[in-house]
Formats: sequence, C-alpha cells, structure tokens
Amino acid sequence: MCGIVGVLGTHEVAPILVEALRRLEYRGYDSAGIATVNNGHLDRRRAVGKLVNLSDLLVHDPLAGKSGIGHTRWATHGAPTTDNAHPHKAGPVAVVHNGIIENFRDLRTELSAAGYSFVTETDTETVALLTQKHIDEGLSHVDAAFKTIDRLDGAFALVFLFDGQDDLMIAARKGSPLAIGHGDGEVYVGSDAIALAPLTNEITYLEEGDRAVLTRSSIEIRTAKGALANREMKTIQVESTQVDKGGYKHFMAKEIFEQPSVLSNALGHYLGEDDTVVLPGDNVDFSKVDRLTMVACGTAYYACFTAKYWFEKLARLPVEVDIASEFRYREPPIVKGTTALFVSQSGETADTLAALRYCKDKADRIVSVVNVPESSIARESDLALPIHAGVEVGVASTKAFTCQLNVLLMLALKAAQDRGTMTPDAIRDAIGQLRALPGILNAAMDRDRTLAAAALKLSESRDVLFLGRGLMYPLALEGALKLKEISYIHAEAYASGELKHGPIALIDKTVPVVVMAPKDSLFDKTVSNMQEVMARGGKVLLITDAAGAEIAGPDVWQTVIMPKVPEIISPLLYALPAQLLAYHTAAAKGTDVDQPRNLAKSVTVE
Ligand code: F6R
Repeated sequence: MCGIVGVLGTHEVAPILVEALRRLEYRGYDSAGIATVNNGHLDRRRAVGKLVNLSDLLVHDPLAGKSGIGHTRWATHGAPTTDNAHPHKAGPVAVVHNGIIENFRDLRTELSAAGYSFVTETDTETVALLTQKHIDEGLSHVDAAFKTIDRLDGAFALVFLFDGQDDLMIAARKGSPLAIGHGDGEVYVGSDAIALAPLTNEITYLEEGDRAVLTRSSIEIRTAKGALANREMKTIQVESTQVDKGGYKHFMAKEIFEQPSVLSNALGHYLGEDDTVVLPGDNVDFSKVDRLTMVACGTAYYACFTAKYWFEKLARLPVEVDIASEFRYREPPIVKGTTALFVSQSGETADTLAALRYCKDKADRIVSVVNVPESSIARESDLALPIHAGVEVGVASTKAFTCQLNVLLMLALKAAQDRGTMTPDAIRDAIGQLRALPGILNAAMDRDRTLAAAALKLSESRDVLFLGRGLMYPLALEGALKLKEISYIHAEAYASGELKHGPIALIDKTVPVVVMAPKDSLFDKTVSNMQEVMARGGKVLLITDAAGAEIAGPDVWQTVIMPKVPEIISPLLYALPAQLLAYHTAAAKGTDVDQPRNLAKSVTVE
C-alpha cells in the first residue's frame, strides 16, 4: 500500500529515487512522484499510472538536486489523478505518506478555518498543510513536523522534505513500516529494505511511534514521547533483496517455477537430522496447547484454512480460523490454553497486525508465520517462523502460499509429535513424503502446456466455479482467488458438498467448473458432485491424478493429470495447477499479470 523513499545523497537523486520506486512498485501503481531540493529550491514531478510514466516525464522535464523523496501510490482517498499524487506540497513542505490519516476531516476543517486551502482530495495533504501552518506560526522545520505528527490519528509512514533545506529529512512511523538506510555520507529512507538494496544493506528499522531527524552526517531517532531512542542497525542479506525476473516474462511465472527449489531450501530449515520437526527459535510444546486460533487475510487465510484440516486430523488439536478484518472487531473470547497464530507474507498487513495486537495479552503465546523476518508482525510475535520463500514480487501470491503451507504442515506434524497423536514412524513417513515433494513438483511442471491449453478455453468465460472437498476445498478457494485477481474473470469456490444447496443453480454450459480432486479418501463423493454438474450441461475441468482420471471417465470436458502424492501433502502439489491455470488465463487475456488492477502487495491499510 504505497511505497515511499527518501535520499539525502551526494549525486543527482532523481534516477536513484525512480530506481527505488521501481523496487517498491509492488506496493501500488496508481501514480508516482518525486520531489527534490535543488540549490535550496523545492520542486516536484508527478505522473498518473505506472512508474514508467514518471520516468518518461522526467526525460522531458528533469528534476535536479541531491536530496529528494518519492512515492508510488495505491489510492485510498481521492482518485488516481496527478493532483492527488504524492509528494504533496504546501508552502515550504513536501511530504510522502503510506497509510491513512483517520482524523483528516477534522484537520481539514481546522486548516480551512485558519485560511489554508486544499487542492487535492487526499488525507495526506492535511499533513503538509498542518506542517506549513506550524512553520508559519514560527516553529522550526523539525518542531513543525513533530507537532504535526503528534496530531495525526491512524496509520502512517511519512517522510518530509523542506524548501531551503537540502540536508534535512524527517521520517516518522506509526502502523506502517519504515527503514532507514546508512550510506557513506548519504542517508536513505524506504518502506522496506528491498527499496534501498542498491544503495545499502545496513538498515535501521523505526519502531512504532518513532520519528527521525536525518541529515547526511547524523541520524537522530526519538520515541513518540520525545526520548532519544537507540535502534539497532542490521545488515540485510543481499539475496533477501534480489528482485529480477530471472529470464521469465513475469515475476509470477518465475515465482511459480522456482517453487521446487524454494520449498526444498525451506524444508531444510525445519528438519532435524533424525527426521523430526525442529522449530527455529523457541520451542512450542503443543502438548500444552488446548486450542489454536489462526488469523490471516486472502491467500494467507487459505493457507490457514488448509492447516486447520492438518492440525485437527493429525494432531487432534481444535482450531479456529478467521479472516483478520472480521476477527479484529468481533472481540472473540480467547480462552486459556490458546496459542494465536498469524500468517502473513509481508508481515505488515494492517488487519492481521491489529488482530495480533488484540490477542497479545489474551493468548498464551503469539506465533507468526512470515516471509519478512523484520516485519512488524514478526517483531511483535513471541515466536516468528520464517517461510523462506525469498522476495515475492508478483502481486498474486504463489511461492509464499506453498511455503506457508510447508511451515504450517511442519507445525501440524510437530503438534502431532508433541501430542503423541502420530507415531514417530508415521511422522518420519510424512517427513519423507515432504522431502520427496520438491522433486515431484519439479516433474509436475511439465503440466504447464496442458494447463496453458485449458486456460485458453477458460479465458473465454465470464464466470468460473471451483469445487473441492476436504483438503481440496481451501485449494479451490485459492484457485478462484488467483483466477479472479489476475484475469478479472469472476470466480467462486464452493465445498463440493455445498453445491446442491444453492450454487448448482448457476450451472450451464457457459460456466466452466474446475474440480480439484486427487483420488483420495473423499474422491468418490466429489465425483458424485461432478456428475451432478455434468448432468446439468456443466463443463468440468478436472484436476486429478491418473487413478482419478480413469474413474471420472471420458465425459469430462478437460482433464489435467497430476502425479500421485499422499493425501496429506496434496495441497502443496495442487497449488501448482491452480496457479498455472490463473497465470495462463491472465496471459491469454493480456491482463497485467504482475500488477493487476486495483491491487497492491502489502496491504497496510484497513
Ligand atoms: C492474493 C494475495 C493476497 C494476500 C493478502 C495477505 O494473491 O496475495 O490475498 O495473501 O493480502 O497478505 P499478507 O500475506 O502479506 O498478509
């Protein structure tokens, strides 16, 4: 949700800002802009749409200066127009913002009454105007910005730049992440370390409420209460910030195809030498856990939903799974003996973070499963389990999903180990199956062409249904989400058994039904539901294994045959056809696979 960057440099800063924004574009791409101070003069350039439009503008209308801030926007308040694009400027102040200023209406009223006028529909403009007002009242730039920050409700990461000050930047964080980068006679600010990777790998993360006064030679961080804060500097691993397509046409394709190697590496982080599950960091003794509450959003929620089946079946552990945006306001009672588990690729999703904070003094322990170890969710957990997916750039989550599943299955096996619900041999067997998975996934990649052909037919549809039962139900949900978010085809998923309770009314020959059904313990039931679809003229795209295909027979519209795997690990394999189907459908339709409309990768607003 919006990427922000700031540089006090020793070279021309515009190209540096644009490159940093390119690395942040996954956070939003409705508009982009930069502001610089050149010979004391504050100026800016902004363009609607993707970053490339800003780059084009800068060719014709360059911006000089060695100090600057930049922004790539995911619109919240106000349409994606040039006027609403950041940086916002008021008098001598320019500001970029990620988050939402919740009391902006009150501030607007107050500023209007004081004679300040607005030229945008954004919440952010109030930040610039309020700071201008404080400067007009005689405060220094730093005091003016701090006084403004104290007045803001909501979530924000902010960077301020000032006319006449080419060696001053102010950064502040509350709710939205912000990293300070240390350079040689230079200083940087960015929404994450990825943005700053070409500049430095030495990073200090601001904590909640922190504000920093930055010059080329000094970094002063203060807490919300004004006390000087000493925040640790970390050296970031270079590979965790690498962002390239590796020869693929899209990041999403690269991320789908790298799953075998990524999973193989991820697995290694959780296995002991004797094929037992060993958690990194503090141990969780599941024999002392009575109940697991799992909370997440979107794809991460579907990973949790899959894990519910695992925890209940393998470890006989009662599990509640909820969507973070609902959980956080429902005020659910958290009973003694509950471990709360939060899953998030970015580790910054606002609703998931709020749900975590709700559980903090109620649950016995807060565990998170994250891809970004420095993220807010990781830092606020008692135990953060990394999924080791590497940077995921495609907005539609793929490898992070399978890596989340991987860690969650490890946790379920650990729970079974601790609770004695599986024998050590059965656990070793399951781990052996998991060890074999990367090879099987690799072999399954050759289904790509079959899935591309199926996707070509799917791309002509207006609506698509997905069906699954048991472990395949969450996978059907994930398949439908993937398809709708990148191909813009309306897709819904149902538990196969629910079909006849309503959705079957939708079936006709124009609505393909993707049935995800390996030949597992529930296959016969799913096949009956599939027959009900075909009996009503429905076209079934069946994703199954060889045994399933044989039973399903020749009347199925299209069949994709996957390798046979044990039921317990089938979600990790069947994620692949769900992803490839969506990918090829979107590619056939010519939509923007990596940056689908209206979406952003890191959802730091409610
Ligand atoms: C869909 C997708 C989203 C995210 C969701 C949660 O492909 O990526 O549904 O899964 O926004 O994001 P994280 O995992 O960062 O909390």
